[in-house]
Amino acid sequence: MKLAILTSGGDSAGMNAVVRAVVKAGILKGCETWVVREGYEGLVRGNTEAAPKSEPSKTSQNLPANYRNTNINLIQNLRFGDGDLLKDGTGDFIGGRTIKGRYIVRVGFDDVRGWFAEGGTLIGTARSKTFRTREGRLAAAYNLVKEGIDALVVCGGDGSLTGADVFRAEWPELITALHAEGRISKEQAEAHSHLKIVGLVGSIDNDMSMTDLTIGAPTALHRICEAIDNINSTAASHSRAFVLEVMGRHCGWLALLAGVSGGADFIFIPERPPPHDTWEDEMCACIHRHREIGKRKTLVIIAEGAIDSNLNPIHADYVKDVLTDRLGLDTRVTTLGHTQRGGRPVAYDRVLPTLQGVEAVEALLESTPDTPSYMIGVQENKIIRVPLMEAVAMTRAVATAIEAKDFDKAMSLRDPEFKE
Ligand code: F6P
Repeated sequence: MKLAILTSGGDSAGMNAVVRAVVKAGILKGCETWVVREGYEGLVRGNTEAAPKSEPSKTSQNLPANYRNTNINLIQNLRFGDGDLLKDGTGDFIGGRTIKGRYIVRVGFDDVRGWFAEGGTLIGTARSKTFRTREGRLAAAYNLVKEGIDALVVCGGDGSLTGADVFRAEWPELITALHAEGRISKEQAEAHSHLKIVGLVGSIDNDMSMTDLTIGAPTALHRICEAIDNINSTAASHSRAFVLEVMGRHCGWLALLAGVSGGADFIFIPERPPPHDTWEDEMCACIHRHREIGKRKTLVIIAEGAIDSNLNPIHADYVKDVLTDRLGLDTRVTTLGHTQRGGRPVAYDRVLPTLQGVEAVEALLESTPDTPSYMIGVQENKIIRVPLMEAVAMTRAVATAIEAKDFDKAMSLRDPEFKE
């Protein structure tokens, strides 16, 4: 199997660990491994230049003699001994250096060494408009067939995973069209009649249904906790109130968990909007009580997608004005922004992508035209496979429930065990 991996949508910590795991597991299981730079955009642009002639990397040439012995169980499927490691160990990515005119790039063991500790996504990401068109997807299919790639791992949020499923569903028709246009041979069309796809959820928002955690969410939460620790000391010094706005798009997971771990006085999340006509009274009464029992500081956490029960957005600056005007609190707003998204992954954002990356390769190896595209998730601490489109549909249903003001349904779609 020739497999390629791409990262798509907003970056998240742990995406590099996914790439590393997929590449390493792929090679160990006898696959040829490729990365696609710049997400779906790279798939559409493909390779206009030939692969550079690369020398075997120094680390591969100098592999210690005992390497094979110490890792024998792990590497038994790797075709050592006839120079294949050198070939696999060099690829044409060459230490992360960008190669002009090449978006779909062969990689080996050495190319992804140490990637578990790097923030963002080293292979780049983009929100591709072209891939949303059939023309774009036709170009993407051609570029994959040209390189002989028959399996694709996509790491991104629900939009990126929907794109993956559309691509797979359309694949037979794209292949027929490419053959009819004379761009690929009959043999190529036959060999590529089926595209294997698997999705991994990379998103700081933790907004995907059917999985307990998305890759990057633990790191973002950790960053928020660190920020709260910093804010707490200055807030207590001045006896101030802080309104902290956190990311999460339409999902309140980051706000809620940050509130619990940082001791917030009041939290706004989109899935549980407060009553539009009384939330100001409720918030002020709650914070007044906390002040009366001796708290020197106040922390209100607001998810960027926070709304009231009439679906009106609740803005941090407005909350600040309410606290200032009604409680007389000296209040500041802090918007954490992209500091939540970047930086080195915490340990769990290395463990989760590694386990899920291995599972992704196994799912691809077992994939047939009749099996659905899987999303790799985690439920109750077990790595699981769920049909990708079911997870995406359930995620979309949360937004629909919120729009219909059916907030209990939204909560139970996020958490099937939710009880009022
Ligand atoms: O989905 C991840 C996320 O960071 C959201 O929390 C946020 O709303 C959005 O992406 C910001 O996206 P960008 O700044 O990349 O356009």
